[in-house]
Amino acid sequence: SAESSTEKELTFAMIKPDGVSGNYTTAIKKIISEFGFGITNETTVQLDEETVKDFYTEHSSRSFFPGLVRYMTSGPVLMMVLEKANAVADWRALIGPTDAQTAKVTHPHSIRAMCGLDLQRNCVHGSDSPQSALREIAFFFEKSSLGFLPKHDEL
Ligand code: PPS
Repeated sequence: SAESSTEKELTFAMIKPDGVSGNYTTAIKKIISEFGFGITNETTVQLDEETVKDFYTEHSSRSFFPGLVRYMTSGPVLMMVLEKANAVADWRALIGPTDAQTAKVTHPHSIRAMCGLDLQRNCVHGSDSPQSALREIAFFFEKSSLGFLPKHDEL
């Protein structure tokens, strides 16, 4: 079954503006490597409003959407394609619950407990399913004969 597959899987991970500006990148990358993920591609970008609205389009009718767009454009983010068996579920488990305040209580060893602040400033993103992972990777990275190339402008 998919659950027990040893085949490598890709997921999309992002260190959000508070994670980058708070200098958590090195610590997060250390965790990524310790847990056996390979980083097949990465790029640092300053996202613009249009790109964030497009990326989070499923949340566009939510009351938090304007704040999410402002936050996600407030500084550079680091985007990564992670690879390992069960990458999607394992990365979600490692980052912990969406609300960093909850994470600090229920998952104190999670990445969001370490570097997140609240429901919005939760430090990292992870795809919620293999389907989302493919969509999100395709959204930011373009396949080429050389591997993945960044689709949006690098800093
Ligand atoms: S929900 O409510 O189940 O749709 O939330 P979820 O899919 O877990 O995550 C929604 C993303 O929007 C960000 N965000 C907020 N969510 C809920 N409430 C508030 N106030 C809020 N503000 C921002 C949240 O961090 C999720 O971002 P990602 O990057 O997907 O983890």
